[in-house]
This record gives sequence, structure tokens and C-alpha cells, in this order.
Amino acid sequence: MNHEFSTNYLKENNAKHYWHPMVDPKLSEKDLPLIIVKGQDRHVWDIDDNKYLDLMGGLWCVNVGHNRPEVNKAIADQLGRIAYYNTFNGFSNPSSIELSTKLIEMLAPEEMVKIMFGSGGSDANETALKLARQYWKVMGQPEKVKIFSLKNGYHGVQFGAVSASGGIVWRRAYEPLMPGFYQVDTPDRYRNPWSDDPYELSEICAGILDREIQHQGPDTVAAFIAEPIQGAGGLIIPPDDYWSRIRKVCDKHDVLLIADEVVTGFGRTGEMFGVRCWGVKPDIMNFAKGINSGYIPLGATAVNNRVAEAWEKDHPLAPIMHGYTYSGHPVACAAAIANLQIVENENLPANAATVGIYFLEKLMELKKRHKSIGDVRGRGLMLGIELVKDRKTKEPFTPMDPYLQSIGPHCREKGVLVRNQGHRIIISPALTFTKQDVDEAIDALDSAIAVDK
Ligand SMILES: Cc1ncc(COP(=O)(O)O)c(C=O)c1O
Repeated sequence: MNHEFSTNYLKENNAKHYWHPMVDPKLSEKDLPLIIVKGQDRHVWDIDDNKYLDLMGGLWCVNVGHNRPEVNKAIADQLGRIAYYNTFNGFSNPSSIELSTKLIEMLAPEEMVKIMFGSGGSDANETALKLARQYWKVMGQPEKVKIFSLKNGYHGVQFGAVSASGGIVWRRAYEPLMPGFYQVDTPDRYRNPWSDDPYELSEICAGILDREIQHQGPDTVAAFIAEPIQGAGGLIIPPDDYWSRIRKVCDKHDVLLIADEVVTGFGRTGEMFGVRCWGVKPDIMNFAKGINSGYIPLGATAVNNRVAEAWEKDHPLAPIMHGYTYSGHPVACAAAIANLQIVENENLPANAATVGIYFLEKLMELKKRHKSIGDVRGRGLMLGIELVKDRKTKEPFTPMDPYLQSIGPHCREKGVLVRNQGHRIIISPALTFTKQDVDEAIDALDSAIAVDK
């Protein structure tokens, strides 16, 4: 390949000058990262021209596949007009207006009416959390400020978003986090102390939320935020009736329901939006990643009429004193419009559903062959494998266990890129994935996981 810099130059300088997200810098100095230089649909190439089937979809985001000419052209066309102008008070641009219109049209079943843009998923959640607090102030209930969320939830890294995130691993180094954030138990069917029956589990977990809001005082609680299907926290798919139960709990206590659709939005679950798996309408929905397949950073927050109506009031706190330099970035929005056209024209949610079912069946067969697989689960092209030392006790491998650490490299040797998230393997490829791709991926996983034999 023709590169300006040699591989060694890049690797050395990466180690010397560059801190990466979510890793101890010592590790990324020792194990030099894979340098990705090219992508085409479901595949990427590293700097040494090795080709990989991308099971990570970038990072749960490249829903339409890499290097789609339609998206590239939309970006280039926008750059040819203007790369950037702000959308603060008094300014707007055609791409962000068109995208907000498109999103509201797509979100008609959820009855969303307004959009605010940001630069990613953490931003989108930050916006939602701030709007939820502002909503109650404008509504004359300024004490409703607390935010509830789930213990395994992941909502991003900014102080609000990480305060709502439940995983200790994301929180500990940055504590104390924001006051007024509380986590309740996740309905984890594989790991919970209560029940194997999903409906009973759902009743128990919704009951915990209900009692905790009651205990704290509903007049102090602004919102409950959750992912329709938890991603980074362990690919946890709630029981079918969980979301309708939490909608009822929120309604009972007059608490806003926020759906973090950063991963689940735009087809990944087999439905266009994650909440459609459960037929539930939240008050606020957050998006990023699949909104433009990660071609340019972009996030969005949508609110329904109940929320939006508050801003029709004349109130000294009604001005939205929130937003980012890159809110409504024209290039990111142009990429999103082209991206969403592909998602709809190619009916990618339907492909995710069909190929996802096939993938899950194959993972179940894999589970029969390998004792280290404790559980496999998935919905659409959002799947996970849970690796355990002992199936009976469900004792997980520790993250640095050499067996666990060997799986990624082993798959790479077979031309497949996978992601270990602790003791779990997370699978989230482009929604253009095919059954042949699944067979190839299963082949690599089969031999990588067999290293335990
Ligand atoms: C559900 C969810 N919310 C929010 C985020 C944060 O998004 P970003 O990394 O774009 O800030 C992520 C990132 O993976 C996510 O999975």
C-alpha cells in the first residue's frame, strides 16, 4: 500500500505520543494497536494490507458499511458548499433542517416532535439529562432533579452521562460523580439472584424501580434513562414486558422516560428503533452512531410533545442554554441524510433481523461445542457471547485471563475482527452483513474459543 509514513514510524509514534480511550496507556504502548487504513462495506484493511471481516462495525456504528459512495458524495458535496457554520441563536443550515425533518418523520410512531443535535452519544445523553431537569423547572416543579438508571447501563463519559452509567469500571477513577443520580438493578436474565422466569424477573426489577422512586419521593425524580438493549454493559436483553412495565412506573410517578438509542437506533436490533421491539413510547430519545454510520461525529436528542410543550411557556428558565459548537454540523448532517436513505432503501433493519436470527442459531450451536461459553444472546445484529470458567457457577473469566486475551488475536489471524468487553465477546457488524459472513465469523470464533480445549 502507498503510505506517507512507514508502519514502524506510525506504531512507534502512536506508542510515544498517543493515549487511547478505555485502555491503560501502558497496555497500548506494549501491544501496539492495529492501524486501520481502509474499509469497504463489511471489511477493513490494516496498514499491512491484511483484510478483516469487521464484527465490530467500527464501534456498533457503521450500520450501512464502510466507504459507501452515497455517503461520501453527500459529505463531499456539503464540503463543496460550506464545511461549517454555527446553529446558535439566529443561524441554521439546510442539512441540519432537512435531517431534523427526516428524523421527526421517522420517529412519528414514537410521537417525537423536536430535535437537538450534538456531536455523539455522550452529548446526546447529556442533552437529554439537562433538558429533563430544565423541563421540570419550567413546569414549576424545580425539585424534580434526580435521575434514575440501570446498574449495567452505559450512557457515555461526560460527567452527566457517566453519572447515569452504572458500571463501576467506568465510574471509579472519576468519582465523586454528579449528585442526584441513582442506579437500580438491571433485568439480566443470565445473571440475577431472583428468577429464571423472564416475566417474574421483569416484575421484580420494575418493582425495584417503583419502590426506589417511591422511597426517594416522586416529587424529587426527573427521569429514568435506559438503553432498550444494554450494549457495553454486557449485551443484556430485557424480558419482553420490561419496557412496558417501566413506562407504567414512570407514568405512575410522573417521571420522564428516556431511551438511549445510541446503539439500538437505526436498525441494529432488527427494528428501526430499539423501543419498537417492545412497542413503547419514551418521552426523550437519544441517538448517535448509526445516525450517520460514524462517517462524521454526530448525535441527536428527540423529545415528544409532552416535553416540548413546556417550552411554549413564558418562563425565565425556558431559554435552552445548552448546545455545542458542532450542534447541527452541516457535513455530519449531510452524511446522516444519505445514510438514512440507505438504511430505508435497503431495508437494513429487516436484513439485521434475518441475518441476526441466523447468527444467533449458529452461536447456539457454538455453545453446544464449547464448555467455556456460558450464554449466547442477541437481537438483530447486536449479539454477545459470555465466557465463563464454569457453566454451573457462571464464574466469569477475569478480563486479563490469557485465554480471554487470546481470542481477539486468534480471530484476527483468521481475518475476523472481534471485540472483547470484559469476559464477553460483543458482535455488532454492519447491517449489510450476510449469512456467508456469519459462517466465516463462526468459523473464526469456533477455533478461537476452542483454545480452551
Ligand atoms: C448506549 C450508549 N450510549 C452512549 C454512548 C456514548 O457515545 P459516544 O462514545 O459517541 O459519546 C455509547 C457508546 O458506546 C453507548 O453505547
